[in-house]
Amino acid sequence: MTFDFEVWRAASLVQVEQTLDRLIDAHSPANLGEAMRYGALGGGKRLRALLVLAASEAVSGNFDAALRAACAVEMIHAYSLIHDDMPCMDNDVLRRGKPTVHVAYGEAQALLAGDALQALAFEILTPDKDEIPSAVQAKLCRLLARASGSEGMAGGQAIDLASVGKSLTESELRRMHELKTGALLKASVEMGAACHVQNGTRASHMPYGLQASLAAYGAAVGLAFQVVDDILDVTADEATLGKTAGKDAAQNKPTYVALMGLEAAETYANELLEKALVALDACGLEADAALRELAIRLVRRQS
Ligand code: IPE
Ligand code: IPE
Ligand code: MG
Ligand code: MG
Ligand code: MG
Repeated sequence: MTFDFEVWRAASLVQVEQTLDRLIDAHSPANLGEAMRYGALGGGKRLRALLVLAASEAVSGNFDAALRAACAVEMIHAYSLIHDDMPCMDNDVLRRGKPTVHVAYGEAQALLAGDALQALAFEILTPDKDEIPSAVQAKLCRLLARASGSEGMAGGQAIDLASVGKSLTESELRRMHELKTGALLKASVEMGAACHVQNGTRASHMPYGLQASLAAYGAAVGLAFQVVDDILDVTADEATLGKTAGKDAAQNKPTYVALMGLEAAETYANELLEKALVALDACGLEADAALRELAIRLVRRQS
């Protein structure tokens, strides 16, 4: 039977949205839950969640673990966007077609909503039941922590802010993008793969070659994603993006478009897509159609 990506995507998104809706409680103190829900629900392409689910399905992973991992990654991502938009960072007023969290709820509440989403991500990875082997829970936490912290998203954001107005070399810019955005996308793939269990009870040991090829796929897709984000900031409009367009040049941010021009940045994104697909082929997985389609769509996206 041929794989229908749209059917798969729609079914996966329903699960992710319903689970996020259930996990992010509106009844937190002093309306904090409301701000968390505003920042995390009802918007977003959920590409990281889809990568987790696709990678897990490719290795016949545990579905409960994968759904939790998919939601945890989206919570970290939502937290990173809430903080990224704050006046002390990119100072953006529009996100996912709505006023940003700090505009709607104030800066202090936005800061706390981000903090609380980050904490909740790790809480949901460690459920108080033993259907998910503890070694799998631990691995998911470690992968997500590493991708979010100073060697991942937060570190990349620090480089981003320290680089305003500077011209970075290609390798400096690549490192910034790999950390601020690539790390979480790569971790999404690795977390999906980490949901593989043996006999339903134990964390399994996946062949090193497969792990390395999946990681190479995730790294290429992750870097391509931010290159395309840089391109769309220049080529797309606000209504399509759901966020302010043209911000990078206005704020003097180092981007791939600024470094190499629009055309070369587009070529580079396509080269990274090729690299991702070669790495995916090297995995030798039978059920890789969703991962393949995701890589293509993520690079060819218009928003
Ligand atoms: C935007 O990410 C921020 C970056 C890391 C480039 P997405 O484009 O995935 O944002 P949503 O989740 O779809 O809103
Ligand atoms: C954001 O990069 C990366 C993270 C949120 C970690 P950008 O600042 O380019 O993202 P947008 O363009 O505001 O979505
Ligand atoms: Mg930013
Ligand atoms: Mg930004
Ligand atoms: Mg951007």
